[in-house]
Amino acid sequence: MGYVKYEQKDLVGVVTIDREKALNALNTEVLADLEAVVDAIDLGKTRCVIITGAGQKAFVAGADIGAMSTMTKEQGRAFSKRGNDVFRKIESLPVPVIAAVNGFALGGGCELSLSCDIRIASENALFGQPEAGLGITPGFGGTQRLARTIGVGKAKELIYTCGKVKAEEALKIGLVNAVYPADQLMEECIKLAGKIARNAPIAVRQCKKAINLGLQMDIDSAVSLEAELFSFCLDTKDQKNAMTAFCEKRKPDPFIN
Ligand code: CAA
Repeated sequence: MGYVKYEQKDLVGVVTIDREKALNALNTEVLADLEAVVDAIDLGKTRCVIITGAGQKAFVAGADIGAMSTMTKEQGRAFSKRGNDVFRKIESLPVPVIAAVNGFALGGGCELSLSCDIRIASENALFGQPEAGLGITPGFGGTQRLARTIGVGKAKELIYTCGKVKAEEALKIGLVNAVYPADQLMEECIKLAGKIARNAPIAVRQCKKAINLGLQMDIDSAVSLEAELFSFCLDTKDQKNAMTAFCEKRKPDPFIN
């Protein structure tokens, strides 16, 4: 797992993509390391995950252009599938994932951030899908998740023009939830992760499931899924703990995984 580091900070797992000399660009080795680290997360003691890039300059500057430059059609299909499989795994993690975007988030880097539940950016973050200028389409889900996140019209504009989005504009268009000075980014992400981790872990997981699966359904199926997950929660130790405490006008006991 040489290209990806993992640190457990209480209930929060911090994943760092560490290929700094290539601005954390994603090649097959980095993707394999990322997948191995994600697979190894102990969900029994992790309530939120943060993904970031090593160094001051880049979150991830994209898929590895050198590697792609000589790929055949078949290799390209396999590379795209590899990235998509890993990103789907991140998107489908039962616990929320925050992208701490600490610099360039271009191409595959923007796409990686989009597979996270929440994006928080440093002031020097720069987002974009430069693929059309490189003679390709986005290959790790950008055409789909960017459109679903910021709306079809803006996503089409950015993808067709290869436009770059600075942190402040990213905030305006709903691509990120907040922007902080670079030296405060991690601290703020840990704070946010801590707020998530303080809530009932079973409920938080069901909320993520309801939102992610529900958005792919028609509204009737989606609200019926929500009803299922809501009723599932009513029979959990977390719910008993929290609601009994409310009724007894006291704070709940800390939630136990
Ligand atoms: N792939 C491979 N290597 C990359 C890379 C990438 N995506 N991005 C940066 N690097 C490497 C550079 O080649 C350079 O390596 P060397 O020192 O060995 O020359 C090193 O990282 C530092 O980069 P720069 O010297 O270019 O740094 P800079 O500050 O001048 O520029 C940058 C930074 C604007 C991000 C520039 O590196 C750049 O434009 N990178 C490419 C960004 C990009 O187009 N990303 C999309 C890739 S396509 C994709 O991701 C497809 C997909 O969806 C699957």
